[in-house]
Amino acid sequence: MIRRIAINTGGGDAPGLNAVIHAVALSALRRGWEVVGIRRGYEGLLERDASGLIPLTREAVRGIAHVGGTILGTTNRGDPFNCPVVENGQTVSRDLSAQLIARFEELQLDALVALGGDGSMALAARLMERGLPRVIGVPKTIDNDLKGTQVTFGFATAVDTTTDALDKLHSTAQAHSRVMVVEVMGRHAGWIALHAGIAGGADVILIPEIPYDFERVCEKIRARYQTRSAFAIVVVSEGAKAQGGEALYKMGKDQFKEHAVLGGIGEQLARQIEAATGCESRSVVLGHLQRGGSPCASDRLLAQRLGCAAVRHLASGNESGMVAQQLDSIRLVPFSEVVGGTRGVALDSDEVHTARDIGICLGDEVEGTFLTHRASIPTR
Ligand code: F6P
Repeated sequence: MIRRIAINTGGGDAPGLNAVIHAVALSALRRGWEVVGIRRGYEGLLERDASGLIPLTREAVRGIAHVGGTILGTTNRGDPFNCPVVENGQTVSRDLSAQLIARFEELQLDALVALGGDGSMALAARLMERGLPRVIGVPKTIDNDLKGTQVTFGFATAVDTTTDALDKLHSTAQAHSRVMVVEVMGRHAGWIALHAGIAGGADVILIPEIPYDFERVCEKIRARYQTRSAFAIVVVSEGAKAQGGEALYKMGKDQFKEHAVLGGIGEQLARQIEAATGCESRSVVLGHLQRGGSPCASDRLLAQRLGCAAVRHLASGNESGMVAQQLDSIRLVPFSEVVGGTRGVALDSDEVHTARDIGICLGDEVEGTFLTHRASIPTR
């Protein structure tokens, strides 16, 4: 029997977090439950006073569904098993999971709705092993790389923002006859690059799933400059790498950080392209712009469907897991199917075929060798 639930948002923010909070709060309040928001991932639970908690009343969630960011705050340094604590003037790592679970009990919370990516789902599963009663995860990330679901909220908005940027970069690239290399987010998955690259009319799309041959990229650019369209748009995923090469990082993992920060491939490629082809090249890093702003309509809808499904699962059963879109419905999948590894773009996916069919270079095929070594297209 549920009476009081908590909700938190962990990892990097994504458009749609507030829409989920809105939906969870309203559908829980309508069932007569109390809803408590935890500030900054799990940090709010580790504060002894109530300043780390926000009562999510109707008033508190009014008018937030279309707003970007998260009213709860978030952190991607919020691992309670590896918490930075200052002792004798030194920052050391401590496992505060027992303290966190005790506080959860003290607050008489019956369940947690955890909004996050793979790291947050892994944390939720570990906390349940240590005694957290029930957790329903809600899949968030602009990267769209979470296993167990076909789509994560935040992705569609990031693709819209990136496509809009590509539209704008087209005119300046054309005006100056330049190569514009646009570095986009996505970690080790190329979803944003592929979807926005197709929608935004890129000439070259480089994704981590298809290590590229630099000569293929140059061939495509030279071919563009031999036509009347003497400019080119190259979209490169931050995790893309050359064949036999490694992804570039601008910041390494520290003791408390969940992930090292990728970056730098866009500028590197622009310099290499200019040197190899003689075509003037510039790079643009879209960066955190892709995480900002209001969620688009489809993200608002998905976020609210996921939030309401989370509450329905809490109301109707005893199971924990992540609510996930599979075909047309929202299902509950066990955390074991979600954590560990990421979901990349499938090489025989419709999107990859589409890009090749319209002549976009993915960095592997020889320019002009259309359909020579194509995998057979799945019929179902
Ligand atoms: O996972 C979302 C994401 O935006 C990635 O695309 C990117 O690599 C990373 O987070 C950046 O994280 P940070 O918030 O540490 O800059």
